[in-house]
Amino acid sequence: MNLNNHFICKSCLIQYTKLLFLSFLLASAIQVSAQQSKVITIETQHNAMAFQVGTDKRVGMIYLGEKLANANEYQHIPSMNREGTDPSGMFNSAYTPAGSRNLIEPAIEVTHADGNTSLDLQYVSDQTKQVGPDVTLTSIVLKDPVYAFMVTLYYKVYAKNDVVEQWSVIKQTEKGNVMLQKFASANLYLTANSYWLKQYHGDWAREMQPQESELTAGIKVLDSKLGTRADLFQPPSFMVSFGKPATEEEGKVLLGSLEWSGNFKIDLEVDPLKNLRLIAGINPFASEYSLKPGEEFKTPAFLYTYSDSGKGNASRNLQRWARDYQIVDGKGARLTILNNWESTFFDFDETKLAALLKDTKKLGTDVFLLDDGWFGNKYPRNNDHAGLGDWQENKAKLPSGIGYLVKEAQNNEVKFGIWVEPEMVNPKSELFEKHPDWVIKQPNREDYLYRNQNVLDLSNPKVQDHVFGVLDNLFTKNPQLGFIKWDCNAVIYNAYSAYEKKQSHLYIDYVRGLYSVLARVRAKYPKVPMMLCSGGGGRVDYGALKYFTEFWPSDNTDPLERVFIQYEYSFFYPAITSDNHVTDWGKQPIKFRTDVAMMGKLGFDIMVGKLNEKDLQFCQQAIQTYKGFSDVVWHGDQYRLLSPWENDLASIQYANESRSKAVVFNYLTSNRYGAGSHLPIPLKGLDANKKYAVKEVNLYPGTRSAFKEDAVFTGDYLMKIGVNPMVNAGRASVILEIDEVQ
Ligand code: DGJ
Repeated sequence: MNLNNHFICKSCLIQYTKLLFLSFLLASAIQVSAQQSKVITIETQHNAMAFQVGTDKRVGMIYLGEKLANANEYQHIPSMNREGTDPSGMFNSAYTPAGSRNLIEPAIEVTHADGNTSLDLQYVSDQTKQVGPDVTLTSIVLKDPVYAFMVTLYYKVYAKNDVVEQWSVIKQTEKGNVMLQKFASANLYLTANSYWLKQYHGDWAREMQPQESELTAGIKVLDSKLGTRADLFQPPSFMVSFGKPATEEEGKVLLGSLEWSGNFKIDLEVDPLKNLRLIAGINPFASEYSLKPGEEFKTPAFLYTYSDSGKGNASRNLQRWARDYQIVDGKGARLTILNNWESTFFDFDETKLAALLKDTKKLGTDVFLLDDGWFGNKYPRNNDHAGLGDWQENKAKLPSGIGYLVKEAQNNEVKFGIWVEPEMVNPKSELFEKHPDWVIKQPNREDYLYRNQNVLDLSNPKVQDHVFGVLDNLFTKNPQLGFIKWDCNAVIYNAYSAYEKKQSHLYIDYVRGLYSVLARVRAKYPKVPMMLCSGGGGRVDYGALKYFTEFWPSDNTDPLERVFIQYEYSFFYPAITSDNHVTDWGKQPIKFRTDVAMMGKLGFDIMVGKLNEKDLQFCQQAIQTYKGFSDVVWHGDQYRLLSPWENDLASIQYANESRSKAVVFNYLTSNRYGAGSHLPIPLKGLDANKKYAVKEVNLYPGTRSAFKEDAVFTGDYLMKIGVNPMVNAGRASVILEIDEVQ
C-alpha cells in the first residue's frame, strides 16, 4: 500500500467532507431564504416579473424578463448579482418611499397629517384575480407601520399580448389631510450590463424625432410641464434596450408609455449597482395634491411590454393590445375623409361647402370634415384671433346652419363631420366676456396667449358641463353627424384657476375633468368616430385614446417627412389610429403622397376641383384600391422591413392574421445618385407553405407595373429571398399586394 497515496486520500476526504458541509450550509441557506421570503410572480405569455418580500416586509422587484420554466427559481436571481452593496436595501423597491432610509429617487413622497415627511411601505397582502378571458389583475397592498397610510400597486396583465398596465392607489386614514408630493404610477427595477434609451422630441410639424443613446449613471428625465398639448416637445412614450440597442428583430427591449394627457415625468436612474430604476407617472411639478382621510388617489396607468426578440415584436404586442382593449372600436372599420382645412382655411361659405360636399362624393371618400372657422357671430371666426368658444354657426358663412350641410351631405351620400376645439377660448369671444372666471390665467398678471387663445378651466365642473354641452348640442341638433375632430391648440400659461381651492391641484384636475367630459361623450355617443388632434400630435397618448378612434399625428403632411413620423409613431400605435391625409405639402407627386397616406387611415385635404383629370382619376381609384386592402393595414401585424433612417428607402409590411394577405409599402427616401431597391426585401408574417401572387397596386394612370401579372411565389421564398419592389427615382413609391393563391 502506498503510504503517500493513503495520506493524499485522507486529505481528499477532509476536503470532501468540508465541501459537503459547505454545500449543506448553502442549500439550507437557500431553503431558509425560500422559507423566509415570499416571492410574488406575475407572468404574461412569454415574460415574468418577480417581487420578493424581505424579512423586513419590504417588497423589492427581483426580475423582469423572459419567463422561467420553474417559478420557484426567481428567488435565486438577486443572490447572483454582485455589482456592489445597497446599504439601504431600497434600490429595488417595488414602490420607493421617500423620507425614511431611502435616499434615491422616490416613487412616492408625502407629508403626513402631523407634518412628518417620512414614509415606509411594508407588505400586507397580495392577490391575483382573473378579470377577463386573457386578463389578470394582481394587487400588492403596502402599508406604513407607523402611519395610517397605504398604497396598493396594481398590475393588469394582458397575457397574450405580453402587455402590462401598472398603476397605484394611495389611501390614508390619518387625522387630517395628507399632502402627496410625488405619486408615481410605476416603479420598475431592471438589470443589464447597459441600457439604451430611445426617446422622442419634437415641436409643431416635427413630431416624433427619435434619439437613442446609452444611459449613464444618474438620472435621465423625460417630462412635460405644458399642461394641455403636453406632448408638444416630448411624448410620454419611449423604449429601453438592454445590453445593446435592440433592432427590429433582435435584442431585449421594453416599450413604455404613460396613459395620461397632462404633465408627466419618467425618471430613468442607473443606480450605484448599475441597475436601472424606472419611475413613471404624473409630473409632480407644481402639483402637490391634498388627500383627505378616507379618500383615494388613483394614478394613471403606465403601459409597457417587454420583448426579447426586438422592437418589432414589442410594437406588434402594443398595437394588438391597443386594438383589442384600448382605443374605441379597435376591431371595427374606419371612414375615409375629405377635410377642408388645407384647401380653404377660414375662407369658406355655404356655396363653397356645398361644392366640397359634391367633391367628396366625386372623390369617393366616406366623410366630408368641416374644419375650423364655422362659428362665432359677434366675433366671427375668420382667423385664429377671434370666436373660439362661441359654438354657434356663423350666420354670414352658414346662413342655413349645420343642419343644411348635414342634409346636403346625405343628398351626396356622404357623412358630415365637424371640427371643435371645446377646451379653448379666444379673449375675443362672447364666452370669454360672459365667463372670465372659466379661463385659466393669473388674476394679477398680464394675460399671455398661445395661438391667441386661453385654455378653459376644466377642473371646474361648470366648465366640464359647458364642454360636454358643446358636443351634446351639436349631436342633438344634428343626430346624423358622422365624425368629430377634437382639437387642442394651446398649452397652459399662467396656470391659475378661479375655481380650485388649492392651485397645485389644477394640472391634475384639468386632465381628470377632460376625461370626465370625454367619458360622458362616449357614454352618450359610444360609436361616433372621433379624431384626437392637438395642432398635430401634441396630445397622443393612450389615456386620451381610450375615447377616440384615431389621432392626427402631425400638421406636417409632406409625404417624405411623414414616412419618418409615421414610422416612429408606429412603434407605439397601430396604423388604424393614424390619420394620414393627402395634401399639397411636399414636392412628391400625388401617387407618392397617396401611397404614404394609405399606410394608416387614408384621407385627403386637397382642392378636388383643382386636380387635373389624371390625378383625379388616380385618387378615385386609390380610394377603391385602399378599400380592398385597408382591413390588413388596420387590423394586421406590422413589420418594418427597411428603416428609412438606415437605408435609401423605407419598406413597411402589414400581414393579416390568417396569413392570406399582405401589403408592402416601399418609398424612396434618399435622392442620392442611383438610390433605390437593389436587392429583394425578405417579407415577414407569411405562411412558408402557402403560395402567394405578388401584384403591384395603386399605379398612376398610364404607368405599367414592373411585375409580371402572374408572379407567384411560395411564402418560403418570399420570406427567405423576398421581392424587389424595383424602387428608384422613376418609381419612388411602390405598393405591393401579396395574396394567397390556392
Ligand atoms: C390645428 C390642426 O392640427 C389642423 O389640422 C387644423 O384643424 C387647425 N388646428 C385648425 O385651427
